[in-house]
Amino acid sequence: MLMDTSDEWIVQRTGVRERRFVEPGVGASHLGTAAARKAIGKAGIAVDDIGLVVFATLSPDYYFPGAGVLVQQQLGMPTVGALDVRDQCTGFLYGLSVAEAYVKGGFHDYVLVIGAETHSPGLNFTTAGRDTAVIFGDGAGAVVVGPADSGRGILSSHLHSEGKYARELCVEAPTFLSNPWITKDMLEAGRHFPRMNGRYVFTHAVRRFPEVIREALAKNGLALSDLSLLVPHQANLRITQAVGEALGLPEGKVFSNIEKYGNTTAASIPIALDECVEGGRLREGDLVCLAAFGSGFTWASALIRW
Ligand code: UT7
Repeated sequence: MLMDTSDEWIVQRTGVRERRFVEPGVGASHLGTAAARKAIGKAGIAVDDIGLVVFATLSPDYYFPGAGVLVQQQLGMPTVGALDVRDQCTGFLYGLSVAEAYVKGGFHDYVLVIGAETHSPGLNFTTAGRDTAVIFGDGAGAVVVGPADSGRGILSSHLHSEGKYARELCVEAPTFLSNPWITKDMLEAGRHFPRMNGRYVFTHAVRRFPEVIREALAKNGLALSDLSLLVPHQANLRITQAVGEALGLPEGKVFSNIEKYGNTTAASIPIALDECVEGGRLREGDLVCLAAFGSGFTWASALIRW
């Protein structure tokens, strides 16, 4: 037995039934590149049409350089810019807002936004790490942001952070604050594993999700009743359900797929979006809200007219 847990505990407390773990040697850049190929194909454009790569991950192949440059190379792109975003569960929405600004500002026609994670090699699969080891999973998703007809596309993005809670969900070592090298003490104390004050994160998430969703609607003069679908970051099924209830949204208007992938942090929203598209959940004219909360603390939303 790896750790003291049970399928019943995991399903009841998190909603996770299955996850995907990469093979050794597969990095977030590889998953991200595969997702990017699919997104570019579906957008019906060529790789060379992309003006900028934005890559959101908390599990990059290397501490540096970032994973975006590896996608530039793996896709055989011209020497376009490659920007890495480090905002964990909220990273994809931070990245999407960058793409929105570049496209709306007329700087690029198409920006590729990727969310990709390989958590599995970095989790603590002993009982001491069971609170995080049972929820996080590997995966990737990508979108191409491009020009939209008036009234359609990304209507607005809303980003927030509160750094006083940085240590409530973090990997604290190795650290350039003191010793950037791995030490025996660090390994013995397990300080190189993710550390999460789960209940604390949960409580803040349940407050911030509804807040930032309402903010996006208010900014656009829209109401909750106008919403066709909420696609939240897949943190925990109970968080998703609590957010839906707080907003009075029927279950059918709140997307959930955490049971298949676990919490894939920056990858969860683009994976969910892809499933919504493939499953015919999104029709032209639908109003879709994306929202996320995570380490930092950071939280964000984006409102989209499909
Ligand atoms: O992606 C964005 C960032 N992350 C999140 O949004 C995650 C937010 N937090 C959560 O999803 C939940 O807090 C967890 C799933 C991490 C934990 O669920 P919880 O209901 O908040 O449990 P807890 O941490 O309050 O722990 C309750 C009990 C504890 O035992 P005692 O102290 O009551 O005896 C834990 O030791 O459950 C125990 N526990 C487990 N038991 C079996 C914690 N993890 C496990 C486990 N299996 N995997």
